[in-house]
Amino acid sequence: MRISVIGPGAIGCLLAAYLARAGEQVSLLDYRPERAALLNAKGITVHGVREDFHTNVKATTDTAEISSAAVLIVCVKACNTAAVASLLKDAISSESHLLTLQNGLGNVEKLGEFFPSHRIFAGVTSNGATLLGVGRVRHAGYGEIWVGEGIENSSTPVGQRKLQNLVAVLDRAGLKAQLVDDIQTVLWRKLVVNVGINALTAVLGVANGVLLEIPQCQDIVQNAVTETVQVAHCYGVHLDATEEIDRVREVCSSTAANISSMLQDVNQKKKTEIDYINGAVVRMAARRGRVSPVNQVLTALVQSLETGYLR
Ligand code: PAF
Repeated sequence: MRISVIGPGAIGCLLAAYLARAGEQVSLLDYRPERAALLNAKGITVHGVREDFHTNVKATTDTAEISSAAVLIVCVKACNTAAVASLLKDAISSESHLLTLQNGLGNVEKLGEFFPSHRIFAGVTSNGATLLGVGRVRHAGYGEIWVGEGIENSSTPVGQRKLQNLVAVLDRAGLKAQLVDDIQTVLWRKLVVNVGINALTAVLGVANGVLLEIPQCQDIVQNAVTETVQVAHCYGVHLDATEEIDRVREVCSSTAANISSMLQDVNQKKKTEIDYINGAVVRMAARRGRVSPVNQVLTALVQSLETGYLR
């Protein structure tokens, strides 16, 4: 199966490296020619807790080279989904499917503005990865990948078979993947993890595990998560606050050394995904006439950091 990973960030490089090592036909789409050239020359090195490995990858900036991919795995930041979708829209085959493996809410809907819903798959990963430099990624937390239909009951029999194949390919590559019926609940659970960890680690400038060591951080995490669970309920997704708080603690522990993707963005003075994580919770709460004050403050703090370095 031809797979193209869109975006050579931490997760994109991690996936491309695992798939390339397993001998899969994988390519990596980058928009920066000099970085794509470096990736082609150097390959990708993964520094894992269990193992280190190095593999060659095929990186390209040319969408014509990925036009016949069976699946394009979108790994760009949520704020770039529309730009990537508009780039790919007329460049890829009408038989290609897209799997969003991004953080935050709204990526399926954004892709849906450019592609028919039966070509969109949604996925979630709990892997923790940090980009150490071009083609160097630390696999700080071993996680799983869950995939399903982007919009319930939208996929065709061809799409369903492709989804099953994709899961098998990812799994064979060592990426622990599984197909799930209710990907919406999994997406909200991942949102809850990002809500609890990303903004706070970005504001404090600490690795994920540090949140477990500071009681005040635990209170903030607990409140942000509880608010998110309440908003999820308003949209028909039933999560249990205690279970979700425990899950966030587990992820903090299993990715203790990881620098969250939002802190990586802040450190590199890049636009963060705050509007699609805590900011999305605030917006979705407001749509149902509710407030989400802890998420509002976390959003405002990260936006203030961004304003400081982006102006
Ligand atoms: O965005 C991230 O950094 C990751 O999704 C996670 C799981 C919080 C680990 O750092």
